[in-house]
Amino acid sequence: MNLKIEEYVNLKAMNTMGLESVARYFGRVESLVALREALVFAGERNLPVIPLGEGSNVVLSECLDALVLLIRLKGREVIERQNDSVLLKVGAGEHWHALVCWSLEQGFYGLENLALIPGCVGAAPVQNIGAYGVEIKDRFVSLEAVDRQTGEIMALSAEECAFGYRDSVFKNRLLDQVIITSLKLRLNRTLMPELDYGALREKAEGLANEVGRPTGMDICRAVCAIRREKLPDPKIIGNAGSFFKNPVISDEHKSELKEVFADMPAYKVAGGWKLAAGWLIEQCGFKGCVKKDGAGVYEKQALVLVNHGNACGKAILMLAGEIQAAVKARFSVDLEIEPRIY
Ligand code: FAD
Ligand code: EPU
Repeated sequence: MNLKIEEYVNLKAMNTMGLESVARYFGRVESLVALREALVFAGERNLPVIPLGEGSNVVLSECLDALVLLIRLKGREVIERQNDSVLLKVGAGEHWHALVCWSLEQGFYGLENLALIPGCVGAAPVQNIGAYGVEIKDRFVSLEAVDRQTGEIMALSAEECAFGYRDSVFKNRLLDQVIITSLKLRLNRTLMPELDYGALREKAEGLANEVGRPTGMDICRAVCAIRREKLPDPKIIGNAGSFFKNPVISDEHKSELKEVFADMPAYKVAGGWKLAAGWLIEQCGFKGCVKKDGAGVYEKQALVLVNHGNACGKAILMLAGEIQAAVKARFSVDLEIEPRIY
């Protein structure tokens, strides 16, 4: 066996919410052979399989009657070099932020706005990670994945991944059907700064040298600084980033709300208006709240639910439900939970 399977493993240190959760079976996957062995093991016992990167976008229940696999397939290589771009192949188990830093050190640009997003490379396409005006779909070429039923490798193009806002085929048609093993990303050899997010432009220009033009590393540093100001460090306070997606509503609904809430932020997007869920939650009075069971809302960002110590998944979801009900009652807006609930 290439794979060591352990029983009754505590996952508290393997999810950034810091939730107590025990996996009935657990394995660390470092090769395709081990991955296939794991799938056979689960198939024989009729067990669900839960792949995890860093557990930064999940809410885990206390007992997982499943085979939890920590995906640690490594490797990053330049597989094609052109005058203006490079094609990278990166293993699903690589650390995302380390990839961003490494790419900038090589003079490959395009990931700087996505700096400091927690997690592993393999999870990035699952919700099409995005921040400060860039999403992974903008750099994505294709990926390889293993079919959970047959163990066979398949390749999926960007189109087949059906990326949307915090969405992809892996949350829909291929939900729980594949394990992503590697990605191909195309990066530029000259920097094309994406500085539409006002605070980022200001901060990046502030960090730039006398020439006044920020480098890729300046943008990366600016993104990290903004994120550190707004988002809690999971090592200090458990969280999964934004707990809800920013909702999109119709023109009509937005006009009605604007009549009552003139200062409500709203951004035009395809299909309507995107609202800031953090604003809606703050208006309902939840910002900074701490519940008896340890669940809470971050004091500097109302979109981030936090674990103040020993909250369990159920406590976090109870608070999420309370928030959804309050936002619905006040604004007639449905908030959709972003992390995957197990
Ligand atoms: P996990 O939480 O381990 O897994 C997430 C989901 O993907 C699960 O359903 C899991 O089963 C599945 N999965 C994981 N690996 C694989 C694989 N190899 N194959 C198939 N399925 C897989 N997200 C953003 O988009 N933008 C942000 O700015 C952002 N900021 C964040 C800030 C903080 C402080 C935190 C804690 C989270 C933030 N997130 C953000 C969410 C999170 O970082 C991303 O969703 C990240 O991609 C999750 O990576 P992970 O390895 O931790 O995935
Ligand atoms: N706001 C408030 N009160 C709050 C928080 C936010 O009023 O407590 C309002 C402000 O008006 C602010 C606006 O919301 O201008 C937007 O806030 P912010 O720029 O912090 O971004 P966000 O919408 O809360 C989104 C993503 C983040 C991503 C940032 C930067 C979603 C669900 N979240 O957050 O992604 O890092 O933009 O691009 O789209 C994640 O997905 O986990 C995540 C952290």
